[in-house]
Amino acid sequence: LSAGIIGAPFSKGQPRDGVDRGPDAIRAAGLLLKLQQQGCAVKDYGNLEFEDVFEDAPVGRVKRARAVGGANQRLSEAVRAVKRDGHTSVMLGGDHSLAIGSIHGHAAAVGELGVVWVDAHADINTPLTTPTGNIHGQPMSYLLRELQSKIPVLPNFSWIKACVSAKDVVYIGLRDVDPEEHFILKTLGVKMFSMSQVDQLGVAKVMEETCDYLSAKVKKPIHLSYDIDAIDPSVTPATGTPVVGGLTYREGVYITEHLCQTGLLSAVDLVEVNPLRGHGEDGVTSTVDTAVALLLGCFGRLREGNHSSNYRLP
Ligand code: ARG
Ligand code: MN
Ligand code: MN
Ligand code: MN
Repeated sequence: LSAGIIGAPFSKGQPRDGVDRGPDAIRAAGLLLKLQQQGCAVKDYGNLEFEDVFEDAPVGRVKRARAVGGANQRLSEAVRAVKRDGHTSVMLGGDHSLAIGSIHGHAAAVGELGVVWVDAHADINTPLTTPTGNIHGQPMSYLLRELQSKIPVLPNFSWIKACVSAKDVVYIGLRDVDPEEHFILKTLGVKMFSMSQVDQLGVAKVMEETCDYLSAKVKKPIHLSYDIDAIDPSVTPATGTPVVGGLTYREGVYITEHLCQTGLLSAVDLVEVNPLRGHGEDGVTSTVDTAVALLLGCFGRLREGNHSSNYRLP
C-alpha cells in the first residue's frame, strides 16, 4: 500500500478565501508521518501551482470557468502521473470543483471507475441549473456521460471527457440537494444513501450495500471523493458550506475503513477543509484532525489497533 499525495491549493470553484490552505493544514497535522507510522509508503508530490487568470468573467451563470478549467487540467495530469507510478492517489483540496480533474485523471490512468461521493451535497448541478454559479456545486455534471448533452461549451473545459456512468456512482451523506439536482439524481437513477438512509440502515449496512452495488458485475477501482462537509459541523466546522445533521466522526471513519478493506480503493479526494472558517482554533483543529483520521482509515488504520505482519513479541 502506498500513497501518492498531491496538494491542490485551489479555491476558485467557490467564493470563500481559505480553502486553498487545506493541503498545508492537513500536512501540518502530521498526515505523512502518521501514514508512514502505520506502514504505508508515502510519496509527496507537493502542491500544484495554478496559473493566474486575469479575465475570468462569468459564462452564463458559471463563475471562474477559465481558472477552474485550467487548474483541473493540471490536476488531471498530476493524478495520472501518480497512478502511473503505482500509488493510491491522494488529492488534498482545495474546493470540490477539483473532483473534475482528479476523477478525470484517475479514469484516464485506470479506465472505468466506481465513484463513492461522500458529501452533504450532490454537486451535480449543470451550468444551466446552478443556483450559485459556483463550480464546486457542479463537478459531477461534467463527469457523467449521461449529462453531456446538457453541458454547454465553457472556456478551458474542452479537454474534459465525461468518463463516469451514472450506474457507477454512489452518494453517501446527502442532506442539502437542490430541486434540479434531485430531478437529475432521480432521472438518472443514481444510487444514493442520504442521511435518512444512514439513519434508517446504519452506516455498516450502507457500506455493505455500496460495495455490493459497485462490484455487482465487475470489480472496478474505486474513487472516493470525500467532502469534509459530509461530517457534522459540530465536528468539522471549518468548511465553506456546513450543513447541520451530518455524519458522526465514527460513521465518517467507518466509511474509510470499509472502503480500504475492499482492496479496490485507488484514489481519494479530501476536499473543502477551510482553515479560515469554523469559528476559531478548536474548530479548525477538529476539522483538520478529522480529515487526517479519514485519510488514515483509507490506508488501513483500524480503531481496534494495528501491528505489522513481521512483528515478534520481545
Ligand atoms: N448546491 C449548492 C450549489 O450548487 C451548494 C454546493 C456546495 N458544494 C460543495 N462542494 N461544498 O452551489
Ligand atoms: Mn459539500
Ligand atoms: Mn464491502
Ligand atoms: Mn462537495
